[in-house]
Amino acid sequence: MTFLLSFYQTRELLAARDAGLPELDVSLDLGLSLARARLTPERVMLPAGLSLTWEDVAHIHGNEQAVFAITEAGVEKVQVFSETFGRLYSLMPTQGAPTMLISGIPMHRIKNTDPMADTRSKIKAAAPKGRVLDTCTGLGYTAGLAAKRADEVITIELDPAVIEICRINPWSRALFESPNITQLIGDSFDYIFDFEDASFDRIIHDPPMFNLAGHLYSTEYYRELHRVLKRGGRLFHYIGDLRSKSGRNVARSAARRLQEAGFKVVKRRPEAFGLLAFR
Ligand SMILES: C[S@@+](CC[C@H](N)C(=O)[O-])C[C@H]1O[C@@H](n2cnc3c(N)ncnc32)[C@H](O)[C@@H]1O
Repeated sequence: MTFLLSFYQTRELLAARDAGLPELDVSLDLGLSLARARLTPERVMLPAGLSLTWEDVAHIHGNEQAVFAITEAGVEKVQVFSETFGRLYSLMPTQGAPTMLISGIPMHRIKNTDPMADTRSKIKAAAPKGRVLDTCTGLGYTAGLAAKRADEVITIELDPAVIEICRINPWSRALFESPNITQLIGDSFDYIFDFEDASFDRIIHDPPMFNLAGHLYSTEYYRELHRVLKRGGRLFHYIGDLRSKSGRNVARSAARRLQEAGFKVVKRRPEAFGLLAFR
């Protein structure tokens, strides 16, 4: 049994203790559901015989950017170091779904929004249907929401360590529980050559920043995206804030290369922080 706690829940636990409450309904899965915790002077008693000392609670409370797993073995920050790619992945809590920090950088938009609202805006722009290619799994939020609307979703993640975090994150469950999601591990740039011509209705391309994965913004890669997309299909390409200087520049050069690659119509979608390209 593993429970997850962050600053958002310890704030409630500390307030309940200060108010002298004997028990509290608190989330142990990052906001998806509530469970009953009993508060004693020394400990917080959780279901399944697990408990926390108030020192544990204070420790979690002091780490606002981290999520902690509570197991029989103790209290541990949710993070995985990838030896292969030399990156540290950790879950970062928000008011809603957590995001993942990749060596300190959040994977989703969290400023004035939250990771699920960010994902919904990508999904709205992509309008998933039929067979969908999700080029970069991450926490699996785009794949999970796309799978609710599409017949089939193929999602690709470079680093297996990211999937380890998904297994711990209750908000990533759809990735493992949706029967119409197929997960692939490896580089999207390599996989793309294996897919058949015109075999996807929609593509969601949500890559790391341009300076971290330039090959996923190359004309060669875009040509393959064009090849595997059906006529009448659309590609949503997340870029970043199109109103910022860097976002504007990346969007302009990506739009040019998408057109070179064969996408006749490329539209800006500033509200979704990306581009829409039509075949
Ligand atoms: C911005 S995140 C994707 C977020 C995702 N759409 C979600 O809903 O959580 C980018 C992800 O792409 C992965 N990645 C980086 N390079 C990749 C590549 N060449 N092929 C596939 N995935 C890659 C990163 O490890 C990271 O998990």
